[in-house]
Amino acid sequence: MYSRVTGTGSYLPSKILTNHDLAERVETSDDWIVERTGIRQRRIAADGENTSDLALAASLAAIAAAGIKPDQIDLIIVATTTPDKIFPSTACILQSKLGIRGCPAFDVQAVCSGFIYAMATADQFIRSGQNKCVLVVGAETMSRIVDWNDRGTCILFGDGAGAVIMQTSDAPGILSTHLHADGSLQHLLEVPGNIRDGQIQGAPYIVMDGGAVFKFAVNALDHVVEEALAANHMEKSEVDWLVPHQANLRIIRGTAKKLGMGMDRVVVTLESQGNTSAASIPLALDTAVRDGRIQRGETLLLEGIGGGFAWGAVLLRW
Ligand code: UT7
Repeated sequence: MYSRVTGTGSYLPSKILTNHDLAERVETSDDWIVERTGIRQRRIAADGENTSDLALAASLAAIAAAGIKPDQIDLIIVATTTPDKIFPSTACILQSKLGIRGCPAFDVQAVCSGFIYAMATADQFIRSGQNKCVLVVGAETMSRIVDWNDRGTCILFGDGAGAVIMQTSDAPGILSTHLHADGSLQHLLEVPGNIRDGQIQGAPYIVMDGGAVFKFAVNALDHVVEEALAANHMEKSEVDWLVPHQANLRIIRGTAKKLGMGMDRVVVTLESQGNTSAASIPLALDTAVRDGRIQRGETLLLEGIGGGFAWGAVLLRW
């Protein structure tokens, strides 16, 4: 038994924040941001619009695309690092907004690789026979944990959500999943703050050593991509589409080069969306599915890396 993606959906908040807008706030420029990252603008959730609201809109689109009814969903997994509340999980809040009850629902916290972790988890639940129809979501309101006075980080992040429905299938579907983590590197990218005795202890914003993250990311992604291909005895040339985490165009180009892929086979959405953390891969996937680039039968490589460090890849047949 295999798992297969049967529908995709995504949602972006309507408010656009351009590089020019940011240059009015911190010492930066459109040229610098485009040259170093590839990002031109990002979306920002409205006041009162929470991660679960973004997740709901993306989920409804994925449910419609899969041609199922919400009550057929028998497991909900939400990858997020910006939950609505400390608890309950955003997955439980999403379940309630979908108007269903009873099925298990939980969040996965693996920051920018969260969607890869969530997909890998859903794949295991389906292949073990435990579940038949899983809603997997990556949803973030990163704008709420960004220090808008820190030019080293505020230029990167944006808000959004993407979702997929994964169902049982006689043929793959998901070919393999590959997950890794190295907690000794947590200090390179983190939100150190927490809540204690009613007070915030430590910085409640993203703190990042950009250069160190960059170097580690390029290397780790190279390795995990090789690992995914080797596990399936596949050649680089057999991958039709790279659907990467959208952090930095230079990192994406590095992975594409390693795979010997032209950028015309790489789905890039960061120019208009920035880094939406766990939402970026399903947002990119949905974009390329809906505009007709990705066709059934093609081979896709999804990969992501972020805070933790946590990283991974999913190789799948569309
Ligand atoms: O999902 C994973 C999350 N994060 C990432 O993947 C981030 C990975 N890292 C990066 O994308 C890049 O490291 C950044 C885009 C964050 C920074 O690019 P960089 O090429 O590594 O620049 P840098 O940090 O080495 O800074 C170069 C210079 C510095 O000035 P000095 O010291 O050379 O005078 C910075 O102060 O650029 C300066 N700088 C800026 N200048 C204009 C840093 N941020 C900005 C800015 N605008 N926004």
